[in-house]
Amino acid sequence: MPAGLLGIEDLTREHIQAILDRSRDFQPRAEPNFRKLDLLRGRMVVNLFFEASTRTRTSFEIAAKRLGADAISITAQASSVSKGESLVDTLNTLAAMRPDAIIMRHAASGAPHFLQRHLETPIINAGDGTHEHPTQALLDARTILDRGAKLEGLRVAIIGDIAHSRVARSNVYLLSKFGADIVLCGPASLLPAELAQIAPGVTLTNNMDEAIRGADVIMMLRVQLERQHEMAFPSSEYFQFYGLRLEHLRLASPDVIVMHPGPINRGREISSEVADSQRSVILNQVENGIAVRMAVLERVLCGVAGH
Ligand code: CP
Repeated sequence: MPAGLLGIEDLTREHIQAILDRSRDFQPRAEPNFRKLDLLRGRMVVNLFFEASTRTRTSFEIAAKRLGADAISITAQASSVSKGESLVDTLNTLAAMRPDAIIMRHAASGAPHFLQRHLETPIINAGDGTHEHPTQALLDARTILDRGAKLEGLRVAIIGDIAHSRVARSNVYLLSKFGADIVLCGPASLLPAELAQIAPGVTLTNNMDEAIRGADVIMMLRVQLERQHEMAFPSSEYFQFYGLRLEHLRLASPDVIVMHPGPINRGREISSEVADSQRSVILNQVENGIAVRMAVLERVLCGVAGH
């Protein structure tokens, strides 16, 4: 079976640690220009995105190129799926061109897992529906560790549209494996009770102050209107109850960091004052996306840093 990366749930702690450790080698140093490496020279990856993306698609492409690989990006609109070709036929067609990996985002939960059963080419999951977004959780962990924090015993509040968030699920799996305390917070309609059972160390609350009190990390989530049939709250009301504002930070640990996977909706789930504050590491997350995806591509294509 090809060793791609479909999710965090099935990875061991040691495996995750190896990727996080290796990603440090790929973080930018003081020099202004990144030195291109040739670890993946002669290799090819295909970025196949059936959903919109700015960060993930671009950073996978940059990561591949920095490692010396060729990277080709295809969107749903530009593929023959728009002419009625099935997903399996599209994937088989691309696989026949012998890429070394296919990086895939799809709106259906489980789509990359299903396709991997039919394909020899390793698939890297770049986000499947409401299920998992493994490289987002890896880059989030890298960003937390960069602040000198240990994951064990850390109090992490994940706030917002938990129900539709693949970022929340992947983070819960990862942080739980490392012994963090995770508080999931959101309105009842966006906070399914069963999420308390998916991993050890998870608690739920509908009260934002309770979630933030003593938090070392606050991870805000976007309300995913594209996955909802109707908005549970008018946006101004949502911001009143679940929008992160400067006054909330006083309840948290003095060293609290504020994270957001993006895209951020200012004035809906986070105020501009917080998003642009010293506490915000949102752009550090974006920067770490390249280093972490370099480590993942190296592992998948060369079988190092974790195998
Ligand atoms: N965080 C994230 O997945 O962002 P994009 O949708 O822009 O890739």
